[in-house]
Amino acid sequence: MSTRHFLTLLDYSPDELRALLARAIELKKLLKSGQNPTPLQNKTLAMIFEKSSTRTRVSFETGMVQLGGHALFLSPRDTQFGRGEPIEDSARVLSRMVDGVMIRTFEHENVEKFAAHSSVPVINGLTDLVHPCQLLADMQTWFEHRGDIKGATVAWIGDGNNMCHSYMNAAMQLDFQLNIACPETYSPHPKFVTQTKSKTMVTHEASEAVKNADLVVTDVWASMGQEEEQLERQKVFQNFQVNKELLSLANKDALFMHCLPAHRGEEVTAEVIDGPQSVVWDEAENRLHAQKALMENLLS
Ligand code: CP
Ligand code: NVA
Repeated sequence: MSTRHFLTLLDYSPDELRALLARAIELKKLLKSGQNPTPLQNKTLAMIFEKSSTRTRVSFETGMVQLGGHALFLSPRDTQFGRGEPIEDSARVLSRMVDGVMIRTFEHENVEKFAAHSSVPVINGLTDLVHPCQLLADMQTWFEHRGDIKGATVAWIGDGNNMCHSYMNAAMQLDFQLNIACPETYSPHPKFVTQTKSKTMVTHEASEAVKNADLVVTDVWASMGQEEEQLERQKVFQNFQVNKELLSLANKDALFMHCLPAHRGEEVTAEVIDGPQSVVWDEAENRLHAQKALMENLLS
């Protein structure tokens, strides 16, 4: 049997995703009640980070420990990854020793290449293209607050980036409507637009996207690796800030999410992210529980 990986949300069926989310909610309850299952005893997860991280690193490492296993943090600065050892060789070597590999990197193709040569499961911890683990946490948060997301309307405001692409995949997999508002030149990848057109629409007016929205989501205007474009992007994205006025055009009980880190005063105002409709701290916490469900599923 070929090795199973989690590189995008499309690697799991809608039923499998719902089962993962249910297990994540259950694991959270078990942890809080002091009955923490440890199905990954003696298992190790290698974590390769070619970009910065707070949430992803801490949630995977803590999650592995809580499941009874161990995680290794590998940075390109002090491993051979940063010195040009071929991805294929790194994959073959690591998978002879560890039970799973999490990778955060730039080109999505590199994660695919690693997975193709790995005999143990590979988890995508963010690429320039997608951020599927964040979507598990976001969806868990929605399910906890509102129940199943099928039939709901979600508004994505801002960059047509990795997070936006994962929301597009989630719309297809979990059957919700996704309205995307972005500057024309920062639209999502055309491949995603075509593949998800039955569940997504793209506009360049933020007010149009939030109409009837049950959930409003945004992300930084300049992602990791785009630091030099920050000033230019700040100008172009001016009309794509989630503020009180914009949020008031969504449904009255709409929730607000942001994968974090956030830039208050840019993509979101403090009033919104620190306000009553925001569930960003639950969302951040759920990275832990959702990824524990994923690791239990892939590694045990
Ligand atoms: N949301 C997220 O992935 O956060 P980090 O970059 O801190 O891991
Ligand atoms: N779009 C952001 C998400 C960070 C978690 C980035 O790629 O930097």
